[in-house]
Amino acid sequence: MHTKEYGPYAPKAEKISYYKPNYKLVKCRVNGVPVEKMVDKRASLTDFLRGDFGLTSVKKGCEVGECGACSVLIDGESVDSCLSLAIWAEGKDIWTTEGLKASDGSISLVQQAFIDHAAVQCGFCTPGFIIRATEVVHRKIRYTRDELRVELAGNMCRCTGYENILRAVEDAIEIEIAKDGENK
Ligand code: FES
Ligand code: FES
Repeated sequence: MHTKEYGPYAPKAEKISYYKPNYKLVKCRVNGVPVEKMVDKRASLTDFLRGDFGLTSVKKGCEVGECGACSVLIDGESVDSCLSLAIWAEGKDIWTTEGLKASDGSISLVQQAFIDHAAVQCGFCTPGFIIRATEVVHRKIRYTRDELRVELAGNMCRCTGYENILRAVEDAIEIEIAKDGENK
């Protein structure tokens, strides 16, 4: 026989909180701007940048450190943000592709080289490649084609546009080296 003493009919239990959010204040610089934000200690840097700052150039590809689509520069080094916790950003200088533009709106020489060499197809991998290439180009080293392949090996392009990407990065390196010569 039906009674009203169980399930939804039972007296209401005391409130139990199963989820105890564990947040931490993170202070860092994002694209040159000082920011501070309370973040879930378990959140990835990808979610931090995309969710909290709307920086959607940071793509979610594999989310296991294989494709490089989520690459960002942390203190000048390209890093897979999907493998980084947001709380590790504390005190760091983080750059995404959105931040590579100059204040007058002009794009970086790496971005221009990608345009000049049509090194973009669907574009999903492009921001990650631009970030990685920015670090590589900044070194001003003339790599052989094979060495450059190794340098870019952490970034994958599913449209297989590798040849044009390699040409774009080689070109950007040459322009960077030439700029150095002009400044001497
Ligand atoms: S999404 Fe981070 S490496 Fe693929
Ligand atoms: S351009 Fe489509 S994944 Fe690289």
